[in-house]
Amino acid sequence: MAIDSRHEIPDAGLRIPESQALPCYFPIVATSTASFGAGKRESHDSSEFYARQMSRPASALQATGLVADAPADVLDQIYCQSSESMEQLPDGCVALMVTSPPYNVGKDYDGDLSLDDYLGLLERVFIESYRVIEAGGRVAVNVANLGRKPYLALNHHVAGLLNDIGFLLRGEIIWQKAKAAGGSCAWGSWQSAKNPTLRDLHEYVIVASKESYRRLRKGEDTIARDDFLDATVSVWNIQPESATRVGHPAPFPVALPQRLIELYTFANDLVLDPFMGAGSTAVAAVETGRHYVGYDTEPDYIALAEARIAEARSTE
Ligand SMILES: C[S@@+](CC[C@H](N)C(=O)[O-])C[C@H]1O[C@@H](n2cnc3c(N)ncnc32)[C@H](O)[C@@H]1O
Repeated sequence: MAIDSRHEIPDAGLRIPESQALPCYFPIVATSTASFGAGKRESHDSSEFYARQMSRPASALQATGLVADAPADVLDQIYCQSSESMEQLPDGCVALMVTSPPYNVGKDYDGDLSLDDYLGLLERVFIESYRVIEAGGRVAVNVANLGRKPYLALNHHVAGLLNDIGFLLRGEIIWQKAKAAGGSCAWGSWQSAKNPTLRDLHEYVIVASKESYRRLRKGEDTIARDDFLDATVSVWNIQPESATRVGHPAPFPVALPQRLIELYTFANDLVLDPFMGAGSTAVAAVETGRHYVGYDTEPDYIALAEARIAEARSTE
């Protein structure tokens, strides 16, 4: 669809097709940032908010505007090597990087890195991801926060790293994995202010863009109306995946990358997972008609991923 036939939503700079426009986006009276309390969001003129010093990017990287096609031989491949270097991929060819990194918490594939060394690994992989992502492409990084004494807010670290590298942060999704803590009794002290402890029911997905919030490449959308409505709120209810069932220590459910892929990419786009594990991202890419490329350091996980991908293809 030609871009001119779309409505612009002033607040987010987004456009939606006229046929799918919801009336609530277009009231007659525009609002602006309230000086007291929270204003209404409809047709919101946010120019005052974005003109404030806090909203201006600290550093502007040189924009490349690069949107390249990947060579055919990297499409639908998983490479057995560290994703700190993704030399098979040219600059600017990936539409979306979606991943869940190792957490350095003692899983089979984890070392015992210091926090600085661990964040250094993530930083190198995110910098390499920045190189291979096209202008207007996105990243979506799933992380859980860890521990209680102390509480390690990995979501803050990941958002900080992405921001410092030059990605444009878009938001943070709360992935709600359960409604209640089930049999967990890890509440610290029972019915006492002595030391009650929070029991997490959620993880995070940090979402950011490269150079432009808007996709520069044109393509065909595939997301259904109801899925779009569910995907554009900040809390997602998705059942977790069983490690035993999949045969990997920490898989995410295919439904998580699938929703991200449908929300942020077009049909036939290239989706990267630099920590591919059991291939959940690749399965989601196959099921949504996208291409994937991935990396993992463990040959056994790659074999498992290939088997899951073959099964997904056989049921297409
Ligand atoms: C949390 S798991 C990813 C699970 C995946 N999302 C899934 O659903 O199966 C992290 C993966 O990163 C891999 N890994 C660890 N260090 C790596 C590195 N430097 N480069 C590429 N993969 C790495 C591990 O072997 C592990 O499979």
